[in-house]
Amino acid sequence: MNTTVVILAAGLGTRMRSKRAKVLHRAGGLALVEHVVRAARAVAAPERIMVVTGHQADEVEALLAPIGVRFARQIEQKGTGHALMCAIGKLDKLDAKSSGLVMVLYGDTPLLARATLDQLRDTQAGSDAAATLITTTLDDPTGYGRVMLDQHGDVQAIVEQKAARPEQLLVRLINSGIYCFRAALLWKHIEEIKPDKASRELYLTDIAEILVRHGHRVQQMHVEDPSELLGINTRVELADADRILRARKTRELMLAGVTIERPETVVIDAQVRVGEDTVIEPFARLTGNTVVGEDCRIGQGAILESAALAKRVTVAPYTLIADSRIDPGAHVGPFARVRMDAQVGPEARVGNFVEVKKTRIGAGAKSQHLAYLGDAEIGERANVGAGTITCNYDGEKKHATKIGAGAFIGSNSTLVAPVEVGEDSYVAAGSVITEAVPAKALALGRARQVNKPGWLANRKKKGGKKT
Ligand code: UD1
Ligand code: CA
Repeated sequence: MNTTVVILAAGLGTRMRSKRAKVLHRAGGLALVEHVVRAARAVAAPERIMVVTGHQADEVEALLAPIGVRFARQIEQKGTGHALMCAIGKLDKLDAKSSGLVMVLYGDTPLLARATLDQLRDTQAGSDAAATLITTTLDDPTGYGRVMLDQHGDVQAIVEQKAARPEQLLVRLINSGIYCFRAALLWKHIEEIKPDKASRELYLTDIAEILVRHGHRVQQMHVEDPSELLGINTRVELADADRILRARKTRELMLAGVTIERPETVVIDAQVRVGEDTVIEPFARLTGNTVVGEDCRIGQGAILESAALAKRVTVAPYTLIADSRIDPGAHVGPFARVRMDAQVGPEARVGNFVEVKKTRIGAGAKSQHLAYLGDAEIGERANVGAGTITCNYDGEKKHATKIGAGAFIGSNSTLVAPVEVGEDSYVAAGSVITEAVPAKALALGRARQVNKPGWLANRKKKGGKKT
């Protein structure tokens, strides 16, 4: 039986008090709607997933298009029932109108587990019901639609918070907003949804009562762990979801062989990968498409943003690595910053207060303290002394610096780009290098020191006057 998924993601999310559409807000490193699409992939191929967009539709569609899902637009947001109606026109191609199942998900429920959707589909497919909806029991059901049951335990109606009578508000069984319908019955009756008297919105939840009225059975699938069903309406709930997603991620990594010293303090995005026997110290932050190899150590407070670390890499505490690659056995930090397509070669060392931007550091090369290396290429085994600066910017353009293999750059050198320092050459400490240094040469680019013997005594004779 084919299953089509429709994800409703057109709303603004007024309660977020944001300029951004709610489903674009992020938790656990992904937009809310991305989590929902990921879960939906458990039951449908991308081409059978239809996302209804409206608010900031262009942004939402741009975000999801690479996954290969389809889109329908809801120009005016007239409620969840109306949003689902907007998808009808686009379903012809999928043969999803007369046969199979239609699962409806809301774009603001990011904690859904794939296994739960699997189970929902199987429960519906194996029953005679017109629809199955996921319910749970909450201590505080405020804001959710309440589910009214008949004497057999089947669903009679869903009553929205705003429309509920006082005794209905006491019901703690809530509608998660996750449904699986028999396609033919859903599309046959959906147009019967009438606008709510007070809000003028078309509530999808009315479909339960409509199906029951036509003599069909609507059943519930009760889920024990309500955390999976959390709908995000406010930033408080967004933070709750983020915490749950982060905890899931660290647990998954720990079970896969990663040591995380204080899991509740680290922030690791959903798509980050970490190899076995890597140790992550407290308060580390690994985001974006970061990939960490085996046997690495990620120091306390380190930030890795879309960084690619090979095996045996040490990132010492309070180091920032962004959009850059670190090769096997390299050591970076503490307090280093590596960014913008930089590459630290195998066994190379980048130490404290060193910034590396768009620079390739060769195998075994070192820059251990206080340096700025921008738009540079540093050869194998080169040693860059403390305080070395590549002057890569002339106020208009960026220029490259090339340091040959085995070169030795003395401390506090200034390399004015474009400039090239040859292989195995030496630059004396404190030099300002403006011209190419040949291989194996020594370059001195500083004023010669002048000593004035007996100067102090002389000064006293002149009565303290300046010399
Ligand atoms: C909805 C349910 C409620 C359920 C709760 C679960 C309805 C009427 N109510 O309430 O029973 O307990 O979810 O979390 O369905 N959307 C559109 N177009 C619209 C309106 C909404 O696409 O015109 C989308 C939103 O982007 C959102 C989702 O539908 O992703 C849910 O809308 P929301 O306003 O958050 O519904 P709730 O009030 O939470
Ligand atoms: Ca909601």
